[in-house]
Amino acid sequence: MPNSLIQLTYASKVNRSTELDMEQLLQSARKRNKAENVTGALWLHGKYFVQILEGQRRKVSNIFCNHICADHRHGAIDLISVNRIDTRTFHDWSMAFLGDSMSNQQLILKYSSQDKFDPSIMDQKNILPLMYKMAEKQQLTATGFSGTH
Ligand SMILES: Cc1cc2nc3c(=O)[nH]c(=O)nc-3n(C[C@H](O)[C@H](O)[C@H](O)COP(=O)(O)O)c2cc1C
Repeated sequence: MPNSLIQLTYASKVNRSTELDMEQLLQSARKRNKAENVTGALWLHGKYFVQILEGQRRKVSNIFCNHICADHRHGAIDLISVNRIDTRTFHDWSMAFLGDSMSNQQLILKYSSQDKFDPSIMDQKNILPLMYKMAEKQQLTATGFSGTH
């Protein structure tokens, strides 16, 4: 059903040969996500992006296939999961941006049993609570462009 709510998670390698202007990237991502009522979080961890998108199946599919996968700032993209959901985890965020602060390092250790993120080792069961905890913590201490929108 195109209107059912889904949550899509993927990881990708940052394409190092292109310039990464996160402020500009987030601005255009959040603008479209707001218009399409898509929510989620984007984590930039070392050489990886990890992103969770939630919203109506048709809208998440369109954003993922036509905008995210088409963006040359990604290298290889690994789809981690697509799940039907009843409620959104990131309903407050059109795209939370998560970085590698010290407090996030502690959470990463807790959820991944190692301090390096490897998408082939972590799965959705760990990624979702980890990214939610990081977003929640960041919302409490929101600073700069990485804020909560
Ligand atoms: C890591 C990453 C995450 C992205 N996340 C989103 C997103 O959540 N929503 C979206 O519409 N586009 C997303 N994009 C695509 C770009 O934001 C956007 O399509 C691109 O900047 C082109 O901008 P324009 O469509 O405004 O010209 C993402 C791209 C990358 C590299």
